[in-house]
Amino acid sequence: MGATNPASVDGRRVVVVDGLRTPFTKAGTDLRDVTALELAAGVVTELLQRSGLEPARVDRVVYGTVIHDVKAPNIARELVLTCDLPESVDAYSVTRACATSTQAFVSGAQAILLGDAEIVITGGAESMSKIPVLYSERFVEALMEANSAKDLPSKVKAFSALRPKDLAPQPPAIAERSTGETMGESAEKMARMNGISREEQDEFALRSHQKAVEAWEKGIYDDEVMHFHVPPAFEITAARDNIPRPDTSLEKLAALRPVFDRRYGTITAGNSSPLTDGASALLVMEEKTAERLGYEPLAYLRSWGFAALDPNWQLLMGPFFATPIALDRAGLTLDDLDLVDIHEAFAAQVLSNLRAFASAEWAQRHLGRDEPLGEIPDEKLNIYGGSISLGHPFAATGARQILTMARELARRDRGKALITQCAAGGLGAAVVLER
Ligand SMILES: CC(C)(COP(=O)(O)OP(=O)(O)OC[C@H]1O[C@@H](n2cnc3c(N)ncnc32)[C@H](O)[C@@H]1OP(=O)(O)O)[C@@H](O)C(=O)NCCC(=O)NCCS
Repeated sequence: MGATNPASVDGRRVVVVDGLRTPFTKAGTDLRDVTALELAAGVVTELLQRSGLEPARVDRVVYGTVIHDVKAPNIARELVLTCDLPESVDAYSVTRACATSTQAFVSGAQAILLGDAEIVITGGAESMSKIPVLYSERFVEALMEANSAKDLPSKVKAFSALRPKDLAPQPPAIAERSTGETMGESAEKMARMNGISREEQDEFALRSHQKAVEAWEKGIYDDEVMHFHVPPAFEITAARDNIPRPDTSLEKLAALRPVFDRRYGTITAGNSSPLTDGASALLVMEEKTAERLGYEPLAYLRSWGFAALDPNWQLLMGPFFATPIALDRAGLTLDDLDLVDIHEAFAAQVLSNLRAFASAEWAQRHLGRDEPLGEIPDEKLNIYGGSISLGHPFAATGARQILTMARELARRDRGKALITQCAAGGLGAAVVLER
C-alpha cells in the first residue's frame, strides 16, 4: 500500500472524451436474444460513429464480461473483429466481477500514462439472458470418452453409466466460489450486522427509482444511451432503460416478500439490483492527443484505488476500503467531492457502506484512522439513479457510472466525482474524476 498513482506521468494525463451505453433492460425482455458480444459491438460501433474518430486511430480495446462466452473468451478481440475497427487494433479482456469495466478503464488509463497507447476504448457487456449453461462433470467426462472412442459401441458405452441427474443442466449461480454464499445472502448478513432495516432499504430503493425516472424525464440519458436495434431482423428496438419504475412506492416495496431469507430476511426484488442485459463503452485518450484531434475532454482521471477483503466477512464493503485509497492518492477528502456514484448491488450494501463511511469506529478499527471518512448527503449521491433502478449488467456498470459522472462534470464544467463499486470475491474499486 502507500503506492501513488499520479494523475500525470511525464506530462501525460488521461481524459474521458466520450462514451455510450445500450439501454439496460431486464433479463428476458427487449435484449434477451442478443449476446454480450453483439451488445458490445453495437455500442462500440455507434460510439465510433458518433465521435467521428477514425477507427484506425484506436490503439487498443480493453473490454470485459463477468460471465464469459466460452466460444469468445477474449471478448475485446472479438469486438475488434466484429465492429468497424481494423484488425490491427490490439485488444485484451479483463474481468473483475462488478468492477470489470472500472478495471478496463484503469488498465486503459495505465497504458496511456505509460505512453504505451494514446487512444483506448474501454468498457464491458453482459447478457444475463444468454448465460452459458454447464453440464455435470460426469456428463462432460462421458462426452470426452465418447469423443476419443474408436467405434460406435465404445461411444455408446461411454454414456452407459450416466444417471438422469447427470444430464441436468447447471446454470451459473451468483454465488461466491470460496464461501458458497450468494450475493443476496451476503447482503442479508450485512443488513443484520450493520442494523439496516427493511424500511431504510425500501426508502433507498424508492429514491433510486425516483432519481432514475427524473433523469430520463430531464433528458440526462438521451445522449448517453443509444437505440439498440435487435439483430438479425432489427424489428425490435430497445430505446430506453426498462427497469426504472415511475409507479413504485414505499407501500408497493413493503409488500414484496424477502427472496434470500424468506422467513426473517429484508432483501426483496425491489431493493436489489435486477438481472440485466446491456453494454457500455468509453473513449479514453491522452490529453494532448485529444487536444490535437479537436476533442474536448468530458473529465480528467485524478486517481484510482482497488481493495480486497475477506469474502467470509462483509463481502460487499469494497467501497469503504477502496475509496480512501483513491482519495488519499488524489490528496482529497470525501467532503471535497461534488458527486459520489456508488454501485447499488443491494440497498443494504450501499447503506452498510454509507454507515461505515460515517463511523469513527469503522475508521479506527478497519483503516487505522482517527476520523471517519465522512457523510455523503443525498444530493451528491447517485444523483441520476443507480443499479437498483437502472439495472446492473455486471461488466457494464462501472463504465456506465464513469460515463454519467464524466458527463455531469462536463455539464457543470467543474467539480470532482467519485465512482465506486463492490465486487464478488470481496473486491472494491474506486475512481476519482475531475473537471
Ligand atoms: C432479487 C431477484 C432474485 C429478483 O428476481 P425476480 O423474482 O425475477 O424479480 P422480479 O423482477 O420478477 O420481481 C419480483 C416481483 O417484485 C416486483 N417488483 C420488483 N421491483 C419492484 C419495485 N421497485 N416496486 C414494485 N414492485 C417491484 C415485480 O413486479 C415482481 O412482481 P410480480 O411477481 O407480481 O410480477 C433477482 O433480481 C436477483 O437475483 N438480483 C440480485 C442479483 C445479484 O445478486 N447481483 C449481484 C449484485 S452485484
